[in-house]
Amino acid sequence: MKGTKSIKIGGEFEINPISLSGLSKFIPDIKNCLYASGSIALMAILNFIGKRNKKIIYIPFYICKSVFNACEKSGFVTRFYELDTQFLFPFNEIDKIERNATLLFVNYFGFIDASDIISKVKANRPDIITIYDNVQSYWTYKNTPADFSFTSLRKHIATPDGALIDSKDPDFYNYSNLDENNFYWAKLTASLLKYEQINNEVYLNLFEEGENQLYNANNITKASIFGNYFYKNADWNKIKERRKLNYRKVYEIGYNEGIEFLFSYKEGIIPLNVPILINKRDNIRRMLFDMNIFLPVHWPPEDFNKNSKNINALINNELSLIIDQRYTVKQIEFQMKKLLSVLEI
Ligand SMILES: Cc1ncc(COP(=O)(O)O)c(C=O)c1O
Repeated sequence: MKGTKSIKIGGEFEINPISLSGLSKFIPDIKNCLYASGSIALMAILNFIGKRNKKIIYIPFYICKSVFNACEKSGFVTRFYELDTQFLFPFNEIDKIERNATLLFVNYFGFIDASDIISKVKANRPDIITIYDNVQSYWTYKNTPADFSFTSLRKHIATPDGALIDSKDPDFYNYSNLDENNFYWAKLTASLLKYEQINNEVYLNLFEEGENQLYNANNITKASIFGNYFYKNADWNKIKERRKLNYRKVYEIGYNEGIEFLFSYKEGIIPLNVPILINKRDNIRRMLFDMNIFLPVHWPPEDFNKNSKNINALINNELSLIIDQRYTVKQIEFQMKKLLSVLEI
């Protein structure tokens, strides 16, 4: 981010070209190669599962379309379940899961620890394959009880691509013949242009182009050398500490002002964003756009979830506050001040 006059909060990560200065000497770790993205990591997992198991997967109604799309592209029949009040799979529905099917759990925003329920499912129904989607939670993707867990780097750091998979089955790890993805180039260029604050439309179009290429990708691919480089060079500890500080600040201000948080504050969590529920969400979001504050929504309504009975509040009222490492506590206070001004609390 350059200067303070044109401060923007949110949106895709920008990349400072100086951060690429060590690239020419960088040698990627070929043993621990990264997948291209979260949804492509899921496709790799499903491809592996589909060779031995039934191609049926149960996913929550509350999910982004790229997960649904990855299941469809992998040739799986996709069935949906309603979350319980804790944002978990309701164990009393376990008998509805077909034998030898796959069940996906999601760690929403980094707030939802599904480990206990996954262990319970595995103990009671060892035929079910469990996948834990930790795309929104890099710090918890490893050492889960699930058969497979995965995360996506571009949600956490400035990188055009990169995803990690943790598998209980050693046979899973076989990267040797993956091609590099083709979407990283548009995303990388967009992030560099965003840093330079070149004409917004140019880099926004490039981000969109990269996103479309990713959405339409049919092959299981690996990350570019850039993704590997940014992953290895990220100061993960520093990122974690800044996120924690910003997270705490959002709650300190929000609680006092009566903001409705989707999840209560919990020490030790390192969230992706902090989701809140507000009325007239789309209007509020537009007003904040005009103030250069770009807050994402997780997720807009889709055809596949129109029959869900209990996600209306989420798809209509959820707004995700920014707490990532790009911002100082002061800038987080600024975001909150602007939010409160448009909410007129
Ligand atoms: C919960 C969840 N799973 C999977 C994905 C897909 O990850 P990626 O965009 O890296 O393909 C996303 C992306 O938004 C997500 O939020």
